[in-house]
Amino acid sequence: MIIRKALDSDLDDILSVERAAFDGEDGAEIVQKLLGDDSAQPIVSLVAFQENRTVGHIFFSRATLEPNAPLSLSILGPLAVVPDAQRQGIGGKLIQKGLDILSESGVDLVFVLGHSTYYPRFGFKPAGNLGFEPHYPIPEKNADAWMVQELRPGIIGNFRGKVICADSLDDPQYWEE
Ligand SMILES: CC(C)(COP(=O)(O)OP(=O)(O)OC[C@H]1O[C@@H](n2cnc3c(N)ncnc32)[C@H](O)[C@@H]1OP(=O)(O)O)[C@@H](O)C(=O)NCCC(=O)NCCS
Repeated sequence: MIIRKALDSDLDDILSVERAAFDGEDGAEIVQKLLGDDSAQPIVSLVAFQENRTVGHIFFSRATLEPNAPLSLSILGPLAVVPDAQRQGIGGKLIQKGLDILSESGVDLVFVLGHSTYYPRFGFKPAGNLGFEPHYPIPEKNADAWMVQELRPGIIGNFRGKVICADSLDDPQYWEE
C-alpha cells in the first residue's frame, strides 16, 4: 500500500472513494467545497493506493481558536476507505501519515468529529472536557465524538476556547454526530 499527497489529477478517484465509503454525496461534497475554500488552507490531502487502485483518502483543513491564540489548528475529515479495503489498517495509516505531516509543519492541535471508539486508537481524546468547544454544539450523548490530539506537548490545559472551522464546514449539517 502506498500513501502520498493528493494531486489535482486524483480528484475523480478521491470523489469515487468518498462516494463508496459514505454511501452518498456527503464526503465528496465536503472535499469539493474544501478544495475551493481559501479559509481551509493549508490543507493536507492524502490518498492510499493498493494494486494501483485508489482505496483511501484523508483530508485535513485549517481551523482557528476563538479567542485568538498563537496556535496552529487543523480539523481531520473526511476520512474514507472503500468498503472492500476496510479493516486492513488503511484508515489508521492515513491518519498516522497525516499527523506526521501536520506535526512536521508545526500544527499544534488536531480535532476530529467522528467515531468515538475509532479515533482514540490514534491518540485522540474527547475535547469538550479539555476546554475545546466545537463550531456547533454536539448533543450531550455524543459529546465524546468531538476529539482532539496535541502534536506539541503543553498546549492542552493552557489554552481553551471555541474551534472555528473553515467557511465550507460552517454548516450545522456537518456537525451532527
Ligand atoms: C472509518 C473508516 C475510515 C476506517 O477505515 P479502515 O481502513 O477500515 O480502518 P482501520 O483498518 O485502520 O481500522 C479498522 C478498525 O476500525 C473499526 N471501525 C471501523 N468503522 C468504525 C466505526 N464506525 N466505529 C468504530 N470503529 C470502527 C473496525 O471495526 C476495525 O476494528 P478492528 O481493528 O477491531 O477490527 C472506514 O470504515 C470508512 O471509510 N467508513 C465509512 C466512512 C466513515 O465513517 N468515515 C469516518 C467518518 S468519522
